[in-house]
Order: sequence, then structure tokens, then C-alpha cells
Amino acid sequence: MMQQFVDREYEIKALRRAFESERAELIVVYGRRRVGKTALILKSVEGFRHLYFLADERSEGENLAEFRKKVAELLGDDVIARSDLDWVELFRLLGERGKGVVVIDELPYLVEGNPAFPSLLQKAWDLHLQNSRVKLVLVGSSIGIMERLLGHKSPLYGRRTMQLDVKPLRYWHVGEFLQGYSPEDWLRVYGVTDGIPAYLRQFDERLSFWENVERLFLQKESPLYTEAEFLLRQEFREPARYFSILKAIAFGKTSFGEIVNFTGFDRGTVSRYLDNLARIRAITKVHPAFEPEKRRNARYEFADNYFRFWFRFVYPNRERIERELYGEVIEDVKVNFDHYMGRVFETAAADFLWRKFAFERGGRWWSRGEEIDFVGLKKGKAYFFEVKWSKLTYHGAREVLRSLERKARYVRTGTKEMLFGLIARGVEGRKKLEERGFLVFELDDLFAL
Ligand SMILES: Nc1ncnc2c1ncn2[C@@H]1O[C@H](COP(=O)(O)OP(=O)(O)O)[C@@H](O)[C@H]1O
Ligand SMILES: [Mg+2]
Repeated sequence: MMQQFVDREYEIKALRRAFESERAELIVVYGRRRVGKTALILKSVEGFRHLYFLADERSEGENLAEFRKKVAELLGDDVIARSDLDWVELFRLLGERGKGVVVIDELPYLVEGNPAFPSLLQKAWDLHLQNSRVKLVLVGSSIGIMERLLGHKSPLYGRRTMQLDVKPLRYWHVGEFLQGYSPEDWLRVYGVTDGIPAYLRQFDERLSFWENVERLFLQKESPLYTEAEFLLRQEFREPARYFSILKAIAFGKTSFGEIVNFTGFDRGTVSRYLDNLARIRAITKVHPAFEPEKRRNARYEFADNYFRFWFRFVYPNRERIERELYGEVIEDVKVNFDHYMGRVFETAAADFLWRKFAFERGGRWWSRGEEIDFVGLKKGKAYFFEVKWSKLTYHGAREVLRSLERKARYVRTGTKEMLFGLIARGVEGRKKLEERGFLVFELDDLFAL
């Protein structure tokens, strides 16, 4: 089952529709490294006449020579491969003779090698491609560069006909990679890899969850031990301060003021660095639902669980990992892991609730020291949920619900019709609670949609 291609139905359909159109297309595909962009494109071009070119850090001349070969292959013309045609001239030939899909993968390497590359593309598009039937697909991992390519100041701005932001898979897809695991382990896996297919594939279901975590994250040779740093270095030249800020967030310093205090950087710096981290999708800025959007009540959170786990457990243990004190490291992770999973479970539960109820508005709510894991509004009814990564007794559950009912009065949903619910790893006496009108979901329900 490991070789199976998982999901991406929506993205494949959208791409194929564009490949079938009668006009030229300029499609921009981006998303973090390892999220599955290349696999998605290769899957989508199946059955279409296409050229796939993967740029790399070699010189521009070498990349160009490689591209010439690909164009020669597509057009069935050997002379092109031995020619000295430049980029724009090659695109002219493609526009004149080629219909089909032209994929340039890892475009940022070309832009790094030649800052004028976007202008070349613009020229090629305006002169030779826009009236052809070529589908030009530009793919890239460096979100910084890809967004600059799409921004107002870029020559390509306004010319694209489609853009696709490839996101990690959702928590419910984890099971397709690890069919032998239990729902509990699926969620734990999601808690360390997020929905990044490349990481999910590295899990070996013949090994336990903890054996995999040790092997993949917590040893010097582990592939995911160095990956986070690699990803950040790809985006930022000077990542040191970014590390401090992400560490602050990993240790629960999630408001602007707390991050300033923890890092000791001045406010302007923190503000700028947070913006950059949000831009590359390492973090997201969230506001409480049903409250006015003020910086004072904003929180900064990890955008994906791989970074969340890495900064919480790998980064602070690096010294020990380097000294091969693996026993101590795994102990530290195990002792704190359930607490860590609380947050992961809340985000998965929110995903589950959105999918199940299709609320009009919703999200986590907090104000003045009070907090509710999820509040949603639909058809004039407000839904309140607490999420617990634990197995609750009947009385424990009643306690949680009573406190939820008390807090719910502070939330300005604009309706008096209220429903209360609970999502926990397990709940004793679920039936009885449901008979009393509470909504109750357990871990298995999250995977049964
Ligand atoms: N939808 C998917 N289902 C299963 N495996 C996938 C999927 N998408 C990607 N992969 C695997 O994950 C790895 C990384 O994907 P890749 O497409 O190279 O990422 P990117 O191009 O975004 O860096 C590859 O081994 C690929 O086969
Ligand atoms: Mg790729």
C-alpha cells in the first residue's frame, strides 16, 4: 500500500481541466518542499503530451542546455538539442509547434541563477505563448520566491490563468499510508509529520510509533532531524533569530508580548520576523472567533505539525542528540507527548467539525483568561465544543460540559440557541450524555467521516 497515490482529487481535476482547454494557460503551482507538488504534476500530466523539466542549482547555462534537450524531445527535432537557442527562442518554437503541457519544476533555482528570468518568461509569454495552446506550468518550493513571482511587482503578475497552493494532506489521509496502525497512532503520526506525504512514507508500519519516531527524528542520521533546519535555510539567509522565535512559540509563548519577552528582541524585529514566518507558512496568526481582531488578542501558532514537533522536541534536544544520549531524549519526548498531543487533537477536531457541520463561522475562542476549543455558528444555532486528548469518565465529562456552559455565556455569537459538545479520545457513558442533548464524539469518529 506504500506506493499508492493518496487523494489530490480536486487538484488533479483542476489541472486536467486546464490542460484540456483550447487556450494558452500559465499555471503557477507552489507549496512547501515535500508536500507533493512534483508527484501531483506528474500524475496530472499522465496521458497529455508534455515536457517535464526539473531545474537545479547548476549554472544557468547547464539548465538551459538541459531544457533544450527536453524541447528537442517534445518537438522531435534533434537539431534543437545541439543549437544555441536561448530561453525565449525555445519558447517561441514551443508556441509555434508545440501544443501540450510544459512543466518547469523548481523554478526558483532559475530565478536565483538569473534574477532576470521572470522578465524572460514574461517576454516569452507575451510574444510567443499567450496566443498558442501551450500550457506552461511553473512549480516551486521556495514560497518566498514563488510569491514574489506572483506579486504586484513581478512581470508575471496578472498573466497567470491559474494558481494552485498545494497544502499538506488532511489528518484523515494518514490511515491510507499506515493501514496497520490504530486511529490513535494515526493521530500521533499526524502530530509529528502533519500531512506531508514524503514524511508519512518513511514510517514503517512493521515498527511501533515510538520506534519510528526514534529512527526518523531523534538520531543524528535521522532524515527528519535536519529537515526543519534545511527548510528554514532555504527561505532565510540568517535563520538564527527565526529559530528563537519558533522556539518561543513551541513553548507556549504565543502572543506578541510573550514572544518579545522570551526572545529579548525589540518589537519591530519580532513583528517583521513573524510576518516573514507567516509568509512562508511556518506559522499562522490567529484571532479568536467571535471577537474583534486586535493585535492584543492575536496568537501565533505553528502552521504544520512537523514544525510544531521539531521545535518542541528536536531543537531543544539537539545537544543530547549530537552526543548520542538517545535514551534521555526519547524519555523526554514520551513524558511530554500526551500534553503536546492536546494541541494536535484540537486542530484535527476543528477540521473534523468543519467537515461534519459545515459551519458558517467558527473557530477557537478566547478572551480574558477564558478559552473554548471550538465555537461554531450555523443556521442561528451556536455549537460549543471542548476537546480532550484523554479518556473521560462520565463524571469527568459532565464536569467539562458544565464549565463549558458557564464559559459559553461570554461568547458573543448573537444567538441564544446553544448546543454543547465534547470530543475526547474516549468517553464513558456516551449514550447517557447524548440522551441529555450533548454532542459527543470519540477518536474513532474523526476517522469515520
Ligand atoms: N498524494 C500522494 N500520495 C502518496 N505519496 C505522495 C503523494 N504526494 C507525494 N508523495 C510522495 O512524497 C514524496 C515527496 O513528494 P514530491 O512530489 O517530490 O514533493 P515536492 O515536489 O512538493 O517537494 C515523493 O516520494 C512522493 O512519491
Ligand atoms: Mg518537487
